[in-house]
Amino acid sequence: MIPLDPNRLPAHLAIIMDGNGRWAQERMLKRIIGHQRGAETVKMIVEQASLLGIKYLTLFAFSSENWSRPQLEVRALMTLLKKYIQRETAHMMRKNIRYNVIGNRSDLPDDINETLEDAMRKTAANTGMVLTLALSYGARQELTRAAARLAAEAVAGRLSPEDITTELFESYLDTGGLPDPDFLIRTSGEMRISNFLLWQLAYTELYFTDTNWPDFTINELNKALADYQSRERRFGKTSDQLTQRGDLSND
Ligand code: FPP
Repeated sequence: MIPLDPNRLPAHLAIIMDGNGRWAQERMLKRIIGHQRGAETVKMIVEQASLLGIKYLTLFAFSSENWSRPQLEVRALMTLLKKYIQRETAHMMRKNIRYNVIGNRSDLPDDINETLEDAMRKTAANTGMVLTLALSYGARQELTRAAARLAAEAVAGRLSPEDITTELFESYLDTGGLPDPDFLIRTSGEMRISNFLLWQLAYTELYFTDTNWPDFTINELNKALADYQSRERRFGKTSDQLTQRGDLSND
């Protein structure tokens, strides 16, 4: 295993877990078997991220666009999700992990919402890693919802246009209160963002691997994190500015 510097891990790791369907199809299996294997990978990676001391892990589990998949697959994914949350909550308590959800919750079936509410309530006081599941999530939809809520505040006279700063806007996003991801991993060889965290990924380091999500291992995570640690994050500044210690804020 490549050694990692525990002081330079991403505080917030986000993952687009892609390739479950292809993993299954390559093996002449039903797509849902790929999702089941994907859920096993989720379990392992959540555990490893928490063990490493990563503070925030955000997983793209179901997109706004995924509703248009065959109904059988959508239902199977919802069942899998429910079972995962129910089965893992005791484990989350032992590992001090807190559940969080982003996305349009009103689209989700009632039983899924109840399961999520229960899991979030039970883990609310946990102080370790925050595990955010993006469910029925689309970034354009999230940005539109934030804009609509700001507009409603303005119409009600509680806000004027000059009050709308970057910070205020951010607080209206589903991720309000979470730091931006430092590192994004996407599996399965696709090199796109697919409507995930469009605002929040502005300065995120991106990493793409050909491995399908069900085959993604702790070793692969380690390799990705080592790659992250080799990068220089400049946030729009020059390399020299970053090495000058102290007054970076004057630029
Ligand atoms: C992408 O694979 C994956 C999804 C749409 C769902 C992700 C769900 C899981 C990993 C399992 C359940 C989640 C949790 C949190 C327990 P794809 O079907 O788009 O793959 P393809 O591009 O090869 O078709």
